[in-house]
Amino acid sequence: MARTKVTVVGAGNVGATTAQRIAEAGLADVVLIDIVEGLPQGKGLDLAEAAPVVGHDARVTGTNDYADTAGSSIVVVTSGLARQPGMSRDDLLAKNAGIVRSVVEQVVRHSPESILIIVTNPLDAMVHVALEASGFPRERVLGMAGVLDSARFRTFIAQELGVSVEDTHAFVLGGHGDTMVPLSRFSTVAGVPITELLPPERVRALEDRTANGGAEVVALLKTGSAFYAPAASAFEMVEAIVLDRKRVLPCAVRLDGEFGTDGLVVGVPVVLGAAGMERVFEIRLTADEQAAFDASAEAVRELVSKL
Ligand SMILES: NC(=O)c1ccc[n+]([C@@H]2O[C@H](COP(=O)([O-])OP(=O)(O)OC[C@H]3O[C@@H](n4cnc5c(N)ncnc54)[C@H](O)[C@@H]3O)[C@@H](O)[C@H]2O)c1
Repeated sequence: MARTKVTVVGAGNVGATTAQRIAEAGLADVVLIDIVEGLPQGKGLDLAEAAPVVGHDARVTGTNDYADTAGSSIVVVTSGLARQPGMSRDDLLAKNAGIVRSVVEQVVRHSPESILIIVTNPLDAMVHVALEASGFPRERVLGMAGVLDSARFRTFIAQELGVSVEDTHAFVLGGHGDTMVPLSRFSTVAGVPITELLPPERVRALEDRTANGGAEVVALLKTGSAFYAPAASAFEMVEAIVLDRKRVLPCAVRLDGEFGTDGLVVGVPVVLGAAGMERVFEIRLTADEQAAFDASAEAVRELVSKL
């Protein structure tokens, strides 16, 4: 039986690190593809040469030719511009929409049964572009943002309380970034809501830091944006699908009436397994939470209307 094949489009920071994680976990063979000649081939070869030391047999190859991506089960799309200091994710809209559209059109020609995981920003709008360009059902076009946003929230909660990140869970809904909706009453340490462990102003401070988590890293790096945590988050989604784990993870998917939203891509918890998004994990929101969710969906609607 052939090993699962995963293509990663974009051999930059997020793409190459995602490829490394997939290969080093022995999860699948990885094809790295980029528009720049030599870049995916060089990084692919370098990653392959790490295999004997790390101890895995996944094949990693690099290419500029979509024919080499044929038959991929999953395609992770990271191609596009990343933020520079002072830029919002939305500033990337026009340029990245063109890139994601052309990439997805080529990818689906060679892997018509694949599941797409979009990483390129502005995330929710790029999932819209990918849905349109692929013609795939919503179950096979997912955006990575919520896993990262909740990982950041978990990091800050664990640091604040001096506890393990492993015992810390966070629940984040909505669009990626500024309009993200952290649900603190469902964010817990060992099952105890953080609203019972921290005063309201500290909870708010952690939520704000999470919503600005991407910008905090951009400001420090100055020449690009975060990639270790984004790659780890994309990997978690790939793993849930390849191993059919039925993980409940926040992903950007097109809602068809769930959470009172229709026809828009917004981050919500979903069950992730071999079929991609197997169902939306819907929960009842309070009036305040629903209002914040609606505002987040509205921000996505505005951005999509500019496409
Ligand atoms: N969803 C999230 O939570 C999240 C997190 C981090 C980064 N991102 C986004 O991911 C994207 C990639 O970030 P990065 O740090 O890896 O950037 P990067 O600049 O390191 O890499 C991007 C790569 O895309 C390639 N590329 C550009 N046009 C292409 C095309 N038409 N076909 C194939 N490849 C092409 C570039 O050559 C480059 O190698 C950015 O849009 C960034 O904003 C999203």
